[in-house]
Amino acid sequence: MKLNIALLAGDGIGPEVIDQAVKVCNAVAKKFDHEINWTSALTGACAIDAVGEPYPDSTHEVCMAADAILFGAIGDPKYDNDPKAPIRPEQGLLKMRKKLGLFANVRPTFTFPSLIDNSPLKRERIEGTDLIILRELTGGIYFGERGRKDNGNTAFDTCTYTRDEIIRLAKLGFEMAMTRSKKLCCVDKANVLESSRLWRETVQDMEKDYPEVTVSYEFVDAVAMRLVQWPSTYDVMITENLFGDILTDEASVISGSMGLMPSASIGLHTSLFEPIHGSYPQAAGKDIANPLATVLSAAMMFEDAFGLKDEAELIREVVNKSLAEGIVTEDLSGKNKAYKTSEVGDWLAKNI
Ligand code: IPM
Ligand code: MN
Repeated sequence: MKLNIALLAGDGIGPEVIDQAVKVCNAVAKKFDHEINWTSALTGACAIDAVGEPYPDSTHEVCMAADAILFGAIGDPKYDNDPKAPIRPEQGLLKMRKKLGLFANVRPTFTFPSLIDNSPLKRERIEGTDLIILRELTGGIYFGERGRKDNGNTAFDTCTYTRDEIIRLAKLGFEMAMTRSKKLCCVDKANVLESSRLWRETVQDMEKDYPEVTVSYEFVDAVAMRLVQWPSTYDVMITENLFGDILTDEASVISGSMGLMPSASIGLHTSLFEPIHGSYPQAAGKDIANPLATVLSAAMMFEDAFGLKDEAELIREVVNKSLAEGIVTEDLSGKNKAYKTSEVGDWLAKNI
């Protein structure tokens, strides 16, 4: 099969972890007789530096022409402490999500048997966790009306959702639940927010189309608590943009390292696959970042974008083997030898 993939390495550790994923994908392609056509493009701070814009039109064209996008990370500390910076790398990410219509962000959380004691949470609480947070990605407060008034002394951001946006996301959630344990949790704040009440009402209306799915409705504050107390009681969760942002960072703690969790963003035009961690600027250029979240994102890409399940499974198997054999970066090595980012990538590619 011919796979056209856009490669957006981004900033910080992005290029280093992307390099390892490319090695692994190329090894998979060789083994299964696929042809990958990689097209690189700039996004994030590196794009601002090069062309003054974090998601240039030229990058958008590359993304639109691709069957899938593999993305590293964006962000640069030189923008973080400057609230008045006119252009920020994160704007590129948001623009990309909006222009590509990446409306559903799929963030799984699972545990690795060999790493279960790496989690700050007790083994008995997290064992068996296998959940998916489906985060709405192109609406809500991230894209609502915003501004300042009162001479700049009052600021506002608004959260708006349409019924259609909710249906589109919830439909994926119901469908995903049907392929899993048929449990769906709708996370909202319907005791306070009108937009949450529309979410709840809309999902309730959809229940009749999926009679086999058991739906629960929970408030986001309670979920924040239960998620670390009894994560294995959740399966598919659907929620709006900001709640999903917060809960997915929280959920990543369960697995023991932020460097492990992949994600997929399903779009109207194409899909994008990226690690959930950020650009980790302190580690950039040091060859120490954990590449596994990006490699596992590539596995999701083979399966979800191209329907190549065996290829995805093989990547996951080799990642598990590297964890079991301790071929890991310093975030996971404990007292044992820490391998470099590039060494982990080489080992994975060789073992494909
Ligand atoms: C994420 C990130 C982004 C978000 C930032 C970088 C804009 O935290 O992908 O979760 O808030 O969506
Ligand atoms: Mn986030």
